Amino acid sequence: MNSTASDPFDQSSAPQEKVLVAAAAIAIAVPGLETEVLIVETPDEVATGCTGLRVWGCSLDFSSYLVHHAESLGLRDSTIVELGCGCALVGFTAALLGGQVIVTDRDLGCLELVRASAEANFANIASASGSVREMHLDWCWFQGVEGIPYSQADFVLGSELIYDRDCARILPSVISALLRPRGRFIALLGIRDVSMLHVFFTAAYTAGLEFTEEPRSLKPSEAAVERSATFSHDREVTKTTHAWSGYILVEMQKCAAD
Ligand SMILES: C[S@@+](CC[C@H](N)C(=O)[O-])C[C@H]1O[C@@H](n2cnc3c(N)ncnc32)[C@H](O)[C@@H]1O
Repeated sequence: MNSTASDPFDQSSAPQEKVLVAAAAIAIAVPGLETEVLIVETPDEVATGCTGLRVWGCSLDFSSYLVHHAESLGLRDSTIVELGCGCALVGFTAALLGGQVIVTDRDLGCLELVRASAEANFANIASASGSVREMHLDWCWFQGVEGIPYSQADFVLGSELIYDRDCARILPSVISALLRPRGRFIALLGIRDVSMLHVFFTAAYTAGLEFTEEPRSLKPSEAAVERSATFSHDREVTKTTHAWSGYILVEMQKCAAD
């Protein structure tokens, strides 16, 4: 056998592409929601260096919060944008509560998973008179995104969005551009670095967002803690000074137009 002939099946020197391994949809029971939410996530959350390829514990607790406050918030029939959706448990929950939802992320892998989940939840969302569509949206390249409803969203939602200082500074202007006057931003954020939250709050004030409630710290549910413990990312982060110490619920409103 000629040992110099190249073997087309030999992958040893080929560049190793990082391929997403999508697991089958998992059924997530959000407390208080009649139907389970079917979510497609990847078994290896750091496959591409993106943090959104698995459902974070925070989005379990935030989804539960939305279910329990859906009526008082008026989520049904409202226009909702989820930022940094990852696998979009929050967005799918909002759609199952009758919201018209656009879930957004900068990571194309996340949006691919979201499309698969949208198919899996299609019938239940339709019977709740909700809707979900996904869109690519990067906070750092926000100007001129086609199809994004500027100044129209009743709600902008987010779970675990702030984990870097640049994001913290940029995000408020994105939120403000999406919300209609008096539209609301509601987010549940992991408390990792309090100074980063201050950067966010200062930028939010400048962008015309004001608190409707004092930010509240929330104790994570057992299910959320259990899920976080399975994240290699959280295990790593916990070793550093940015250890995870519960959640903060942030509720803001865009100032009314003059
Ligand atoms: C920690 S994950 C949270 C995912 C999801 N919200 C959850 O709680 O399960 C943060 C998400 O924000 C997205 N993200 C980070 N920076 C972004 C940016 N500049 N523009 C849009 N999305 C961004 C990431 O791709 C990732 O999906």
